[in-house]
Amino acid sequence: DEEGELVSRPPVVTIMGHVDHGKTSLLDAIRKTSVVSGEAGGITQHIGAYQVEQNGQKITFIDTPGHAAFTAMRARGAQATDIAILVVAADDSVMPQTIESISHAKAAGVPIIVAINKIDKHEANPQKVRTELLQHEVFVESMGGEVLDVEVSAKNGTNLDKLLEAILLQAEILDLKANPNRTAEGTVIEAQLDRGRGSVATVLVQKGTLRPGQIVVAGDQWGRVRALVNDKGEHVKEATPATPVEVLGLSGTPAAGDKFAVVENESRAREISEYRQRLARDKAAARQSGQRGSLEQMMTQ
Ligand code: GTP
Ligand code: NA
Ligand code: MG
Repeated sequence: DEEGELVSRPPVVTIMGHVDHGKTSLLDAIRKTSVVSGEAGGITQHIGAYQVEQNGQKITFIDTPGHAAFTAMRARGAQATDIAILVVAADDSVMPQTIESISHAKAAGVPIIVAINKIDKHEANPQKVRTELLQHEVFVESMGGEVLDVEVSAKNGTNLDKLLEAILLQAEILDLKANPNRTAEGTVIEAQLDRGRGSVATVLVQKGTLRPGQIVVAGDQWGRVRALVNDKGEHVKEATPATPVEVLGLSGTPAAGDKFAVVENESRAREISEYRQRLARDKAAARQSGQRGSLEQMMTQ
């Protein structure tokens, strides 16, 4: 039954920006844990998803890597999101992945909040950041626009509450709602094979409520949910809209950005996943024969 009342849900916020401008540090400071120090070389290789609470209101954060190689992840992050936090280091200002992040947010129709980070540094020049953003059609309030901007220091924890308040203000304007009483649907944030746990897929539930025991199709993979694990590593009995959660029990690893949905039974799940795997194989074969075709053409010319 897909009927049911829409209820308020937390905003899903993606943190984007140029490499090393402090996205993970900022999220880390907000969570007061230490994600950055646990990362290989301090470079985000994947998308992390976490939930925090401010004045009793939840906010879901998705971290993205700033490295040039991760364009697709930033694009997917922007698509799964309600609000984009554009992190710009005040000592480095607008850089290529800053500009790319702006395009992804605009393409996805997602409002931007600018976090001008590293204001603790001597070289910090927040005004330069605001001016350079004008050239990319991001108009902050002090420049006569409507985009909220907050000067922060992830290092010193400066103005983090202001940033969270700006997010909640923006979320209020968006009036975000979802129906928790329906079949669960959402997006795969990332997935990997874990030696001990098997397939681990971090998903963002967007509609309905996901529960252990349910049968899920994710991209061309499927499985019965063996366990749900939240961002604190705790096993949970359900994941409601805008909640990120690890799903254990899939047959393999779906791709980041794949949609997932709960289906009625195993045979339906198998049918859908086999159909999608066949489509993927056919596509790959068509691509290969296309390449062969153009090679033959080249050689006979
Ligand atoms: P990628 O995920 O690799 O794109 O990087 P990131 O944007 O997540 O940046 P990260 O959090 O890894 O920080 C990059 C470097 O900047 C680290 O050495 C941080 O310690 C430093 N840094 C982050 N925020 C601040 C800040 O507010 N002030 C100062 N001084 N340094 C900061
Ligand atoms: Na980094
Ligand atoms: Mg990072």
